[in-house]
Amino acid sequence: MKLEGSVALVTGANRGIGLAFVRALRAHGAAKVYAGVRHPEFFEESGAEPLLLDVTEQDQIVAAAAARGDVTIVINNAGIQAGPGLLDGSFDGARREMEVNFYGTWALSRAFAPILAANGGGALVNMLSASSWRPNMRYPSYAASKAAEWSLTNALRLGLRDQGTLVVGVHAGPVDTDATLGLDVPKVKPSDVAEMTMRALERNEPEVLVDEVTRSVRAALSGPVDRLAPAR
Ligand SMILES: NC(=O)c1ccc[n+]([C@@H]2O[C@H](COP(=O)([O-])OP(=O)(O)OC[C@H]3O[C@@H](n4cnc5c(N)ncnc54)[C@H](OP(=O)(O)O)[C@@H]3O)[C@@H](O)[C@H]2O)c1
Repeated sequence: MKLEGSVALVTGANRGIGLAFVRALRAHGAAKVYAGVRHPEFFEESGAEPLLLDVTEQDQIVAAAAARGDVTIVINNAGIQAGPGLLDGSFDGARREMEVNFYGTWALSRAFAPILAANGGGALVNMLSASSWRPNMRYPSYAASKAAEWSLTNALRLGLRDQGTLVVGVHAGPVDTDATLGLDVPKVKPSDVAEMTMRALERNEPEVLVDEVTRSVRAALSGPVDRLAPAR
């Protein structure tokens, strides 16, 4: 698809990978970028229009869709990691992860699917993870929420095919954002994730495997589970 002249909406756009998506879209010629944020009053980024959007608030999703009927690209980027360990801790954080990562993505996709259809098909991008495929003993519920989001992405790809919407899943290992502050491992730059995604959109490719971690996990999927090199 053509990025030049597109109208994009990015969720969780105020920092991390979301902000990198905003900047990459502008750099690739998007005519408008709506930055979905929970606190528009604190958001300032030239070339982006802040839009109140907590993806767990259905009334905000409905209002966003009603007011932004010109959108041609939706990027479901908002996500959290808040869950307990495998054998202890409250399930509250695990439920919150599902609310944001899975139900939030689903709700926004439902609301904007008819808008994308009306505007010629467009594209829907879901920010997934190597954890969509890899067991994670430290953060099992985050991985489960990303696996659920991957399944949803596949369903959306098939379900929106007839309306001409390109559905892209972006999978990455550790990316250098607030979410990985305490993690002492090699990390990809958010701008690299965004740039690879722009390239996939331009080439109509449905899957982005950002780094070597992700590519090797993807390749090991059909083998025994211990080949997936579980994250500890
Ligand atoms: N960092 C990684 O290593 C990595 C790897 C693979 C995939 N991912 C995925 O990439 C996405 C972005 O991650 P990141 O590393 O950039 O995270 P981040 O720096 O922690 O930023 C998370 C973003 O999501 C927003 N958000 C959280 N809850 C929300 C809600 N209910 N409604 C709307 N926005 C909400 C946050 O807004 P506030 O500022 O208001 O909290 C923030 O803008 C996530 O889906 C994450 O799972 C990250």
